[in-house]
Amino acid sequence: MKLFTHLLIAASLAVAAISAFSQEAKPAAAAASAVPASADKPDLAKGEASFMAVCAACHAPDGNSLIPVNPKLAQQHPQYLIKQLQEFKAGKRANPVMLGMASTLSDADMKNVAFWISSKKAAPGVAKDKELVLLGERIYRGGIADRQVPACAGCHSPNGAGIPAQYPRLSGQHAEYAVAQLTAFRDGVRGNSLQMTQVAAKLNDREIRALADYVAGLR
Ligand code: HEC
Ligand code: HEC
Repeated sequence: MKLFTHLLIAASLAVAAISAFSQEAKPAAAAASAVPASADKPDLAKGEASFMAVCAACHAPDGNSLIPVNPKLAQQHPQYLIKQLQEFKAGKRANPVMLGMASTLSDADMKNVAFWISSKKAAPGVAKDKELVLLGERIYRGGIADRQVPACAGCHSPNGAGIPAQYPRLSGQHAEYAVAQLTAFRDGVRGNSLQMTQVAAKLNDREIRALADYVAGLR
């Protein structure tokens, strides 16, 4: 029964990864038009103004936070950013700081700020641990077959740019932040993605550190 459940999870992850790849194959223009055509256009000037007034203090004026516990947001997919802001506001992703921030934003504010952030260029980062980074690379590209851990590249793309709209960009992200998120998924603290809970469930602390270090330097 346990094996069957594992196979089921592995199979569903594989399907997700395959459909992710077929999404990736679409040209950029098609991906951009995945935003509902009926929705109002984001107001980038308004988004920039609210980002500068409130968010820049922690996430830096260009969205490339210099503080390791505050994630870099620049060039992140707007749909992913909006999902996170909505889930902070609803308490589905628990974080006291971002609950306070997101609570002040309307749906329109979230959209404006998210599209503005995604228009900023992400600053690359660097990996710091020569030995760990090789372990990270191996798991990122190939997964861990005997524990049914899927390759991260299948959903986050080989260069870590992510795949709009669901799969976030990881490349260049602060390792400290990525360690915190993977640990939070694994320990059930971040409960807003069943896929990532299943992926992280089978990773140990050393593997998490290795993956986070590899991702930080990925470009
Ligand atoms: C006081 C510092 C602070 C301020 C101000 C702040 N944030 Fe954050 N933000 C954080 C921290 C810390 C996290 C990581 C939360 C966690 O660990 O789950 C975060 C996470 C996020 C995330 C999730 C990113 C991801 O990769 O999943 C988004 C989106 C975000 N912030 C947007 C904003 C926006 C938009 C504003 C302004 C309205 C803002 N933040 C203001 C500290 C801040
Ligand atoms: C089956 C698809 C899938 C696979 C495989 C996958 N991820 Fe994810 N990952 C996601 C999705 C979807 C999210 C966004 C969750 C959300 O919406 O909150 C995510 C989010 C993340 C985040 C949080 C990003 C942020 O800015 O907060 C990290 C870190 C991450 N994944 C790392 C990894 C690593 C490392 C691996 C490989 C061990 C991996 N993922 C494999 C789908 C996947």
